[in-house]
Amino acid sequence: MKFIELAKKRSSIRSYTPEPVSETELHTVLEAGRLAPTACNLQPFQFVVVREKENLTALATAYPRDWFKEAPVVIVICTDRSKAWKRADREGRCLIDVDGAIAADHMTLAAADIGLGTCWIGAFNPEIVRNVLGVPETIEPLVLLTLGHPNETGRPKTRLPIENLIRYEKWK
Ligand SMILES: Cc1cc2nc3c(=O)[nH]c(=O)nc-3n(C[C@H](O)[C@H](O)[C@H](O)COP(=O)(O)O)c2cc1C
Repeated sequence: MKFIELAKKRSSIRSYTPEPVSETELHTVLEAGRLAPTACNLQPFQFVVVREKENLTALATAYPRDWFKEAPVVIVICTDRSKAWKRADREGRCLIDVDGAIAADHMTLAAADIGLGTCWIGAFNPEIVRNVLGVPETIEPLVLLTLGHPNETGRPKTRLPIENLIRYEKWK
């Protein structure tokens, strides 16, 4: 599939069939995250794969939506600020969320490429995730990424027209 077709095909999936995700499929998605670019190639993240029913149920208390409980896999993308690149010239501004976001985006696209669905969850309770998974204080759970076989096609894409987004050469 051409990349632009894949980008059009991927959409957030909020309903999953009970079919399990195979080890090969899971590996493909995790590998796409591993291959993501990071600032200075520091790779300041860890991906926690949650598949056991008991752990998924506990994790769902951090994002209490019925559909979330349908996902057979949740990948928790965690970032480690101490390992991330910080700008020396901008009061140590740290782009760690960007590193984590690119890894998450690689995973969503890799999943769509093999016919799996994902939904990026940002509006979860990080303290609950931290407690459920035993994530240390120095590590931030950034994204909960549901993964499974889609039971819906996703919402129609609504995006701003391209002319609203692009400026050529200068701002004005
Ligand atoms: C940073 C970020 C946070 C998001 N958080 C949530 C969330 O908490 N719950 C949810 O259902 N979807 C969440 N989404 C999914 C967006 O709602 C979705 O990507 C957007 O509406 C565009 O739809 P599409 O992914 O189907 O193209 C999030 C997406 C991003 C990029």
